[in-house]
Amino acid sequence: MNQSPTAIPNPPLTIQPPAWVRQRQLIDWVQRVAALTKPDQVVWCDGSQEEYDRLCAQMVAAGTLQPLNPAKRPNSYLAWSDPSDVARVEDRTFICSPRREDAGPTNHWVEPAEMRLTLDGLFDGAMRGRTMYVVPFSMGPLGSPIAHIGVELSDSPYVVTNMRIMTRMGRQVYDVLGTDGPFVPCVHSVGAPLAAGQADVAWPCNDTKYIVHFPETREIWSYGSGYGGNALLGKKCFALRIASTMGRDQGWLAEHMLILGVTSPQGRKYHVAAAFPSACGKTNFAMLIPPQALGGWSVSTIGDDIAWIKPGKDGRLYAINPEAGYFGVAPGTSEKTNFNAMATLKENVIFTNVALTEDGDVWWEGMTDTPPEHLTDWQRQPWTPAIARETGRKAAHPNARFTAPAEQCPSIDADWENPAGVPIDAFIFGGRRSTTVPLVTEARNWTEGVYMAATMGSETTAAAAGQQGVVRRDPFAMLPFCGYNMSDYFNHWLKTGEQLAQQQATLPKIFCVNWFRKNAEGKFVWPGFGENMRVLAWMVGRIEGQAAATEHAFGLSPRYDDIDWRGLDFSEAQFAQVMSSSADAWRAELALHAELFTRLQQGLPAALTQTKAAFEARLA
Ligand code: OXD
Ligand code: MN
Repeated sequence: MNQSPTAIPNPPLTIQPPAWVRQRQLIDWVQRVAALTKPDQVVWCDGSQEEYDRLCAQMVAAGTLQPLNPAKRPNSYLAWSDPSDVARVEDRTFICSPRREDAGPTNHWVEPAEMRLTLDGLFDGAMRGRTMYVVPFSMGPLGSPIAHIGVELSDSPYVVTNMRIMTRMGRQVYDVLGTDGPFVPCVHSVGAPLAAGQADVAWPCNDTKYIVHFPETREIWSYGSGYGGNALLGKKCFALRIASTMGRDQGWLAEHMLILGVTSPQGRKYHVAAAFPSACGKTNFAMLIPPQALGGWSVSTIGDDIAWIKPGKDGRLYAINPEAGYFGVAPGTSEKTNFNAMATLKENVIFTNVALTEDGDVWWEGMTDTPPEHLTDWQRQPWTPAIARETGRKAAHPNARFTAPAEQCPSIDADWENPAGVPIDAFIFGGRRSTTVPLVTEARNWTEGVYMAATMGSETTAAAAGQQGVVRRDPFAMLPFCGYNMSDYFNHWLKTGEQLAQQQATLPKIFCVNWFRKNAEGKFVWPGFGENMRVLAWMVGRIEGQAAATEHAFGLSPRYDDIDWRGLDFSEAQFAQVMSSSADAWRAELALHAELFTRLQQGLPAALTQTKAAFEARLA
């Protein structure tokens, strides 16, 4: 479109919804947001391949995307973000419930009316010179009783294309919505309006960032960032923060969990949901390939990041993966660490902030043992191994990501799109801890399991902006993602257990794991990755009532002989290193639990303080 360089007031925008959009409230809302943000045009996305290809071509022309060599990586692209926009911004993330106590002490809270004034100011004219895309999406298989719908209005074509991979996005969503179906409204702007004639940059964003949730009205407003969870609003904002409040109100769970199926050599299949903080290997665990020496185990992938879990009529918990793609951390992913992920990444992928090879493919730290001789790094600079040695500069940003369709994963579970979900037999909680927390512990009962999950600690990673490697409490791996008061969330879990027990159901077992113990030299002791199958096999043995365990102060753990070591050289002494937990270390750990409980005092369930007292008594 030709534009005059002089400022001409925009004519009133007509939003012209296509005939297939019949939800009146949605049309009114799009009209209101367009009037506020003042884009040049509104595009109603249909989710087609043609639309995806057109937007990618447009972003290639704008310098946002680079097409990769089709002979190496068909239909795939690389984006390099602005260096200031590389991770989730937890400091700029707000839960605006009417009362501060509803958000709780772990969330940033601003009074809703005050936040609305701020947002009105920020969003006024924020999309000038840009296109506003209307992106309808279903979190979960279309029409599943566990699924929910959202609509994201965004001025970023990068967001649209990523949302098409990460969700069921497109015209078919309007059929589910009909004329009055419910949806979660999500508004997103990169916060970089263009004056008439002003040239765009490859990655528009703004130093001012706001990621805002209104749990009462179930609305999301995101300003200033184009990256990952800040901008792909179906993921953390909807599927975790808003959905967790929906789950609290409606009796279900929205969790930061992978879901996998595990089938024993005898052909019995179980389903496990596992919570780990960001960048602690959820994708690797979800796609695990069991060591052959263990004979006949298989693992299939249902989800790698988020689980929506609802109680079924039979008293069991059923889980779906609300997403349709993987937005995984690239560095460290290789054929050795995650063969299935590498196979998933063969085509149709958007890579962000990885390095570009001379032959038009991608590379990141850990992808191969030997790095290529020349690369262009994620900051568009020449990179060689020698430069890296001299400067410490990484070729890929540590939080570089791939966005890939889930259906391309070779280990995808046959039931991954089952609208009824899969029944959960066990929950696993795991943090990244160099010390103290043993390889695996089974909770003796639901309440102890909730306690273990609630007090989980983990060393921070690059997935969020801020200092890395410091231990912080990350209850249920939900610290950055719980949309309400954490104490109420613990209570919700305890109540869920009570309700299942009342139905005489067998509750899922709860385990706590730590793959990350280090020795005195700072080296990981546990080999991890595929070898985690040995721990998973022990858990299945526990579910089946076959595997032995020994009881200690904090629960039940395997002895060396309770784990199948066939094909792995892992000594009893090494096992002792990953299982050891001195009473002194645990006293220090319990003191940190006490600090957390003091912080969460208001509404903290008495069952948790009683469990802590019982642990202390056992330790004494
Ligand atoms: C993610 C995260 O992107 O947890 O999944 O940060
Ligand atoms: Mn995550």
